[in-house]
Amino acid sequence: MPNESTQARVERVLFSEETIRARVAEIVREIEASLDDGDLVIVALLKGSVVFLSDLIRGFERQVAFDFVGVSSYGDGTEPGPELTLTKELSIDIAGRDVLLVDDILDTGRTMHRVIGYLRSFGPASLRVCVLLDKRARRQAPIEPDYRGFEIGDEFVVGYGMDFADRYRNLPFIGVLAPVQDAL
Ligand code: PRP
Repeated sequence: MPNESTQARVERVLFSEETIRARVAEIVREIEASLDDGDLVIVALLKGSVVFLSDLIRGFERQVAFDFVGVSSYGDGTEPGPELTLTKELSIDIAGRDVLLVDDILDTGRTMHRVIGYLRSFGPASLRVCVLLDKRARRQAPIEPDYRGFEIGDEFVVGYGMDFADRYRNLPFIGVLAPVQDAL
């Protein structure tokens, strides 16, 4: 469990552990219902998606393979930098396979837009997008997720894999970060 001093820097809980668990189970059902039978390859973006991914994959009854692509756009700040950096390449063969691209949060959409282009170059049979959180109001790139957990406003959220300066990822809930001067 996170200690008290970690929790004290989160202003409020946006989604509790129970709320997230229930919604993740619903997302799995939505995905299962909309896919043909067969295997599925999940490609998740490092690092924020790992907690969501681990809960998501355990809900599937079909065979699910997964891999990671490493992309970093925020560094240690709260605003995206101009450049996206690929820090880990795809290492699984997705040619001719059904691919589900998974991420924790869709914000401007610039990361996802670029990763979709990258994945399409490997020739998947299909490519769908699943995000836990959708900050729709901030969208700059033309990305509409096929599956989304929750739509949220323009707030900086942490927990359940999401960080500020690589902290808070281990919180089991999703919370809104207190003002930056109090958060470190
Ligand atoms: C976050 C998040 C998404 C991306 C979304 O990653 O996990 O991948 O930003 O932003 P966008 O829609 O504006 O492009 P981050 O760069 O913080 O890396 P991390 O997952 O390692 O925390």
